[in-house]
Amino acid sequence: MPGLSIVEGLLGADDSCEAPAASETRGKSTPPEGRRRTTPSELSRLGEVRQFGRVVGRSTAMHDLFDALKRFARTDVTVTFVGETGAGKDILAHAMHQESLRGRGPLVVFDCGSVAANLAESELLGHERGAFTGAVAAHAGAFERAHGGTLFLDEVAELPLDLQPRLLRALESRTVRRVGGKQDKPVDVRVVAATNRDLRADVAAGRFREDLFFRLAVAVVRVPPLRERLDDLPELVHTLLADLGRPELRGSDAAFDALRAHAWPGNVRELKNVLACALTLIELGGALLEPKHLRLLSSSNDPSWVDGLPLAGQRLDVIERAAIRQTLAQTCGNKIYAARALGIAVSTLYEKLKKYGA
Ligand SMILES: Nc1ncnc2c1ncn2[C@@H]1O[C@H](COP(=O)(O)OP(=O)(O)O)[C@@H](O)[C@H]1O
Ligand SMILES: [Mg+2]
Repeated sequence: MPGLSIVEGLLGADDSCEAPAASETRGKSTPPEGRRRTTPSELSRLGEVRQFGRVVGRSTAMHDLFDALKRFARTDVTVTFVGETGAGKDILAHAMHQESLRGRGPLVVFDCGSVAANLAESELLGHERGAFTGAVAAHAGAFERAHGGTLFLDEVAELPLDLQPRLLRALESRTVRRVGGKQDKPVDVRVVAATNRDLRADVAAGRFREDLFFRLAVAVVRVPPLRERLDDLPELVHTLLADLGRPELRGSDAAFDALRAHAWPGNVRELKNVLACALTLIELGGALLEPKHLRLLSSSNDPSWVDGLPLAGQRLDVIERAAIRQTLAQTCGNKIYAARALGIAVSTLYEKLKKYGA
């Protein structure tokens, strides 16, 4: 969605996103965004490193995002993160919880994309004993478990259409009624949602209810893709290498030039895979990442194409196979990282590799 500001739409009168308070510091000299070449030695001239929860950012895009999120963290407004896969929606949703007044309360993640359609309602709202065959005990749903904290609705566009009115009702009345229940239970929950889809287009296509869209659109926060905030690369590389257990490793100027020239269709998740792969290629005792360690797959910028073929009309097993092959290439064959990137269990990855004879 090019051209959108960080906070795309604000429908609630009380939640306007003005300029940040003057006390919040900005970089001394804010550089223009884009693919400008910057060597590590030039970094001192860039904007300062700022942090929101565990998320670090040096680019103006991330500074603006943090400013908006700091304001929202002090409220209970429903925030919806919209952005490409791997851009950091999950990590920002977690940071939003930690930085909010509810940070000490529970954070319950409800992945609308992975819950079985027939279980979605009882997983979200809970059920009473005997509500359906197999309901041998009462079960508190995600809403109830998030009482006093935050409910993170991940991949919210995938929520089954018939469940959407019930979610809307829970959001508006701040009460839930378990499946098979007779009473509405009050719940004190702040909702954060995320999606990589264009919810407006889904509404137009009848895949997403308009009333729920308006409820979620109170504060839509666009998470910029990595290619729009290349100034974040040095900090991201440093943080991710530390996460991968090699905080002492540094990237050469040439390595950063290569990273800056890449299109990053898989965003920070792809960067993490590339670095994990580099660790297996770097010489024993080596302390410098060089371009030869970076397996940057040449990629089309258009995620609707795979292996030179359009995704639409493509057989799912062909897409799956290509996704697995490309991810394994990116992680240097590391199946744990590949499974994580693909959002499946390692055992499932092994099953699929067997199925495809790989
Ligand atoms: N700013 C960041 N700092 C450190 N790690 C990040 C950052 N942004 C994303 N990541 C990491 O990149 C991966 C993808 O991020 P995630 O939040 O899951 O993306 P999304 O939910 O948008 O697909 C995760 O492993 C996450 O921890
Ligand atoms: Mg995610």
